[in-house]
Amino acid sequence: MVNISIALDGPAGAGKSTIAKIIAKAKKLTYIDTGAMYRAITLKILRYGKNVQEEQIKKILSDSKIDIDGNDIFLDGKLVTEEIRKPEVSNFVSHVAKISFVRMKMVELQRKIAANKNVIMDGRDIGTYVLPNATYKFFLTASIDERAKRRFTELKEKGFNVTFEEVKNEMEKRDKIDTEREFAPLRQAEDAIVIDTTGKCIQEVVDEILYYLK
Ligand code: CDP
Ligand code: CDP
Repeated sequence: MVNISIALDGPAGAGKSTIAKIIAKAKKLTYIDTGAMYRAITLKILRYGKNVQEEQIKKILSDSKIDIDGNDIFLDGKLVTEEIRKPEVSNFVSHVAKISFVRMKMVELQRKIAANKNVIMDGRDIGTYVLPNATYKFFLTASIDERAKRRFTELKEKGFNVTFEEVKNEMEKRDKIDTEREFAPLRQAEDAIVIDTTGKCIQEVVDEILYYLK
């Protein structure tokens, strides 16, 4: 049997993980949140400070264990699903994710998890680099204001003390670093279906994707 794989890419706050979880459930696919993996290793690196050197990052990487189980992510056996969403991690993750050897390790892990499974994987480089032969590729976008508003609302609901401007600035900076990095940047695959989600509710986007999957 040929495995089905769905690549879902796009900038921060485009709705990737929310949509991916719903599609995974509807189509009985394994959901793989690749951003959570970069966030988990960033959380660990931050424990050593922001000025940690390359050699030390290599050591931290080789000493770390990242596991995904459904919507949960574990770092060295400890559940970090909530902790990786904190603003300190969001502010630093793109600096970690642009390091080539970090990406190589994460991509290796992502491909290993996806092997012999029907998957939906969300990230920045899934359709272009991680799964270039994915059965379906989608690229979700939305205006920066809408994406920042969504993330701001989410963070406030979780009790984080942030302003809309801070969230918007952080997202813009992250999108810039993710887009401009040399190795596997945030880019729409040529054969991806682009969905602009500005002004669309979650269900509308889900329906649009389900239509293509028929
Ligand atoms: O949920 P949100 O869009 O805010 O971010 P995320 O998907 O959790 O990804 C966090 C960060 O990880 C991104 O801003 C990228 O720097 C990095 N990332 C990446 O480089 N490649 C991926 N495939 C996924 C995430
Ligand atoms: O994974 P990504 O960063 O692309 O976005 P997300 O974490 O799935 O979505 C960010 C927030 O926007 C969540 O709180 C979603 O519920 C919300 N959202 C929305 O209001 N409308 C959409 N069409 C998609 C997501």
